[in-house]
Amino acid sequence: MAAAIEAENLVKTFGDVRALDGVSLDVPEGTVLGLLGPNGAGKTTAVRVLTTLLQPDSGRATVAGVDVLKHPNRVRSLIGLSGQYAAVDEYLTGRENLQMVGELYQMSARDAKKRALELLEWFNLSDAMDRTAKTYSGGMRRRLDLAAALVVRPPVMFLDEPTTGLDPRNRLALWEVIETLVEQGTTLLLTTQYLEEADRLAHDIAVVDHGKVIARGTADELKAQIGGERIEVVVHRPDLVPEAIAALTPFAKGDPAVEKNTRRITVPVSGGAKVLTDAIRELDARSIEIDDIGLRRPTLDDVFLSLTGHATEDENAADEGEHPAKKGRRGHGKDV
Ligand SMILES: Nc1ncnc2c1ncn2[C@@H]1O[C@H](COP(=O)(O)OP(=O)(O)OP(=O)(O)O)[C@@H](O)[C@H]1O
Ligand SMILES: [Mg+2]
Repeated sequence: MAAAIEAENLVKTFGDVRALDGVSLDVPEGTVLGLLGPNGAGKTTAVRVLTTLLQPDSGRATVAGVDVLKHPNRVRSLIGLSGQYAAVDEYLTGRENLQMVGELYQMSARDAKKRALELLEWFNLSDAMDRTAKTYSGGMRRRLDLAAALVVRPPVMFLDEPTTGLDPRNRLALWEVIETLVEQGTTLLLTTQYLEEADRLAHDIAVVDHGKVIARGTADELKAQIGGERIEVVVHRPDLVPEAIAALTPFAKGDPAVEKNTRRITVPVSGGAKVLTDAIRELDARSIEIDDIGLRRPTLDDVFLSLTGHATEDENAADEGEHPAKKGRRGHGKDV
């Protein structure tokens, strides 16, 4: 399949900071690439280079086959962009903002109006569409900015942290909008710090840290890469623990861990559901009474921690001042 976005060895430095330190990417047409990385990883810089807003020091990139450095104007006509640089005019209403974008892109007044109303509906902004944007809340602005990026249905879209600052309902609504776009053939590069979002939307994930792509694959591949599959069993009585460990030992890929108080035994395994069924059979054959059993797989959070050595929100978050409400982490209460 043709690559809709291709980048080769992009380097961008700001003084001493190597914001991009040799980034290569390719996004096949009609797919979603999730660029996942902590604050300062280089995500926005990569997006800015690919969308012609920033010149790299070296490297090359194409969007829809067009060279980003040689033909920036042509690239701009092929892409939609939304993100950490609001494109909203404060003194226009929500509806006027979207109509203006349509007309800027040579749509007829009638089509621009129709498209604006459709997008306002999608983004739950219909009630507020005749108020000036300066009266909008942060989340409303964010949605208007996203809607503006979608007015002209570009074949390639870049969304930089699209759901940061959105409440759960609007986040879900945006995910649905994005899924619809992708079904209709849009290619999407999405940056996010929400692992759940990458898991749900991205066909492929590139984990970026310190300006480098440090891992690449589907969510499942990345999870498999770090291992960490395990069976957890809770036996009915404490005295069953040794017998249960004996039953599970043939399946173990490492030492079992036992929590005495909860009668929980955790055994590292590999082989997925098949191993789980075999383990259940073995426990059953020995008549060991169990209260609970399950196969636990690593989450993308585990992947992220294992690859970058730190959680998605690190201590730099406060410096950037752009993320008032980073929520949505799963598991792991601790930053490392
Ligand atoms: N215009 C600039 N001038 C100086 N340094 C910059 C500039 N833009 C980015 N940087 C630096 O480059 C690095 C990468 O920044 P970038 O904005 O690409 O990170 P990011 O992955 O988008 O982070 P975040 O999750 O916080 O949005 C950071 O260290 C940042 O401080
Ligand atoms: Mg950024």
